[in-house]
Amino acid sequence: MSSTNNHYLVTSALLYANGHLHLGHALGYIQADIWVRTQKILGNTCYYICGDDAHGTPIMLNAKKNNQSPEEFIKQFYDAHIKDFADLGVKFDYYGTTHSPENQKLTEQIYTAIKNNGHIITKNINQAYDPVENIFLPDRFVKGDCPKCNTCDQYGDSCEHCGATYNPTDLKNAKSVISGATPIVKESEHYFFNLPQFTELLKTWTIGDHLQSEISSKLQEWFTAGLQPWDITRDAPYFGFKIPNTDNKYFYVWLDAPIGYMACSKIFFDQNNLNFDDYWKNNNTKLIHFIGKDITYFHALFWPAILEGSGYKKPDQIYVNGFLTVNGKKMSKSRGTFILARTYLNHLDSEYLRYYFASKLSNQVEDLDLNFNDFVLKVNSDLIGKLINIASRCSGFINKQFNNTLAKNLQINNSNNADDNFGNIYQDFLNKSDTIINHFTNINYSLAIKEIMALADKANQFIDYYKPWALIKTGDTDTTHKVCSMGINLYRILISYLSPVLPSLAIKSSKFLKASTDWSNLNNPLLDHEINTFEPLLQRIDPLKIENILNDSKS
Ligand code: MSP
Ligand code: ZN
Repeated sequence: MSSTNNHYLVTSALLYANGHLHLGHALGYIQADIWVRTQKILGNTCYYICGDDAHGTPIMLNAKKNNQSPEEFIKQFYDAHIKDFADLGVKFDYYGTTHSPENQKLTEQIYTAIKNNGHIITKNINQAYDPVENIFLPDRFVKGDCPKCNTCDQYGDSCEHCGATYNPTDLKNAKSVISGATPIVKESEHYFFNLPQFTELLKTWTIGDHLQSEISSKLQEWFTAGLQPWDITRDAPYFGFKIPNTDNKYFYVWLDAPIGYMACSKIFFDQNNLNFDDYWKNNNTKLIHFIGKDITYFHALFWPAILEGSGYKKPDQIYVNGFLTVNGKKMSKSRGTFILARTYLNHLDSEYLRYYFASKLSNQVEDLDLNFNDFVLKVNSDLIGKLINIASRCSGFINKQFNNTLAKNLQINNSNNADDNFGNIYQDFLNKSDTIINHFTNINYSLAIKEIMALADKANQFIDYYKPWALIKTGDTDTTHKVCSMGINLYRILISYLSPVLPSLAIKSSKFLKASTDWSNLNNPLLDHEINTFEPLLQRIDPLKIENILNDSKS
C-alpha cells in the first residue's frame, strides 16, 4: 500500500435475492456510487464492494413456490441485479453473493472465534411451528388477532392497528401463512450472540464520529432499554449455512449477510493480489458502509460487536440514507409508484435520476421525495436549459465560423466595462473546486449541485453579456471566437465537477470535446484545440414518459 493517498473499502447494503431492484433501493446505491466515484477521481484508492443477500426463509419459500431450487431462484435475481446496476451507472469493483464457499468459510471462522472468545450462550426457546409444513415460523409468517386490541389479520411481531409488540405465540386464532394450519408451540435449542457483553464498547463506539448524529442519538434509546442477546440460529429447513457440529441448525441470514461484505471483498482482493487484512484489520485504511435506515440496528450494534468479538476492526463510518417516497407517499403498487429500476430504465436514462437524487441528497437521515413534476422541471431546466445549453450555444459558432477549433487564447481585449465581472471567469470556476469536492466528500451532494448550477448560470450570463450572435454580425470574429471558446471551456469544467453524478454524460462530453474531463486536467484550458461537431448530449424529458413509467408500474 502506498501512503500518499487514502485507502477506502466501501460497501452498500446487500440486496435480497428475492426481488428486483426498485427506485427506493437505487437511492442508496447511487448515493454510495457518487461518493466512490468522487474518491477515485481524487486519486484515492477506493474499492466499492457489494452483492446479493441470498439466504433466509422467504427466499427458500419463494423458490419452492416457483418450483425452483433456491440456487436457481437466486441466480435469476443475481443476473437481473447485475444488469440493473450497470444501467443505473452504479459501478462496483466486485458484485458477489452471500451464497458462496468463501462466505461459508468466513462465517464459520467468525462463529468459531466468537464462540471461543466466550460470546455464545445457549438457550431453549419456544417458537411457533407449522405442523403441516414441518417448519418453524418466523414472526411474519404467523397471522392472527392482536392479543391487545383484537384487530384481526395481524403479523406475529406487532399490531398495525394499536402498535403493540408481542411474540407470535401470543396471537389469538393464529394461522400459519404458509399452510393455514394452526401453529403449535415447539421447543428448540438456540445459540445466541451475547451482545450485552459489548455494551460499554458499543456505547463508546456509537458516539465516536462513526455515525450521523441522528443515528447516534437514536441508538442511545437501545442502551437505555438494555441490549439483549441476539439469536443467530435457525432450525432446518432453512436456506443458509449449517452451523458446524449440529445436524439441523443453520446460521440466521443476518449473521452471514454482513460477513458477505468480507467474503465479497476477499474474492476481489484475491483476484487482484491485494491483502484482505489491510482492509479488515488495519486502521490506516477506512471501512465505510452505506445502508438504508431500516437496517441501522444490524449495522451499528450487532456488526461492530461481531467484528470486535472475532478480532477484526470495526467500521470507520456508517452512512445511513432515508427512504424514498414517490409523489409524497410511500411507494405503492396500487398507485403505480412502486417503480422497478428496469421499468424506469425502459423509458428514461439513469442520468436524470442520478442528477435528481444528487440535487436532493444531504448527509442527514431524511426521507427523499421523488416528485415527478419537480423531477421533470428540475432536470429539464438544470441539465438541458442551463448545462447542455452552454455547449450548444457556443459550439455552433465554433463549428461554422472557426473550423471546429477553439481560440488560441481566451483573453478578451475589449472587456473594460465596469460591470464586467467575467474578467477571471475561468479561474473563478476553478476556485470553486475545493468547496465542491468537500461537499461531495461530506455527502452533501445537494450543496455541490447548488454550487455547480450557480456556475452554470454564470456561464450563461457570460455568453448573454457578450452576445456572440450579435458580435459576429459586427465583424468582431476574434472576440466571438474567444467568447465561444471560453463557453466550451467552462462547460468542460462543469462536466468535470458533475462527473461523479453524471458519468455517462461525462464520457459523451469528453468525446465531443476530444479532451479529458478529469478533475486533475482542468488547470489548463483547451486552446487552439479541435472539438467534434456538437450533437445533443441529453434530451429533455417528455412528461409522457413519466406517465408510461407509472402505467407500466401498475401492471
Ligand atoms: N439484505 C438486507 C441488507 C443486508 S446488508 C448486510 C436488505 N436488503 S433489501 O434488499 O431489503 O434492501 C437493500 C437496501 O435498500 C437497504 O439499504 C435498504 O435500507 C434500502 N431500501 C429499501 N427500500 C428503500 C426505500 N424505499 N428507500 C431507500 N432505501 C430503501 O435490507
Ligand atoms: Zn392491536
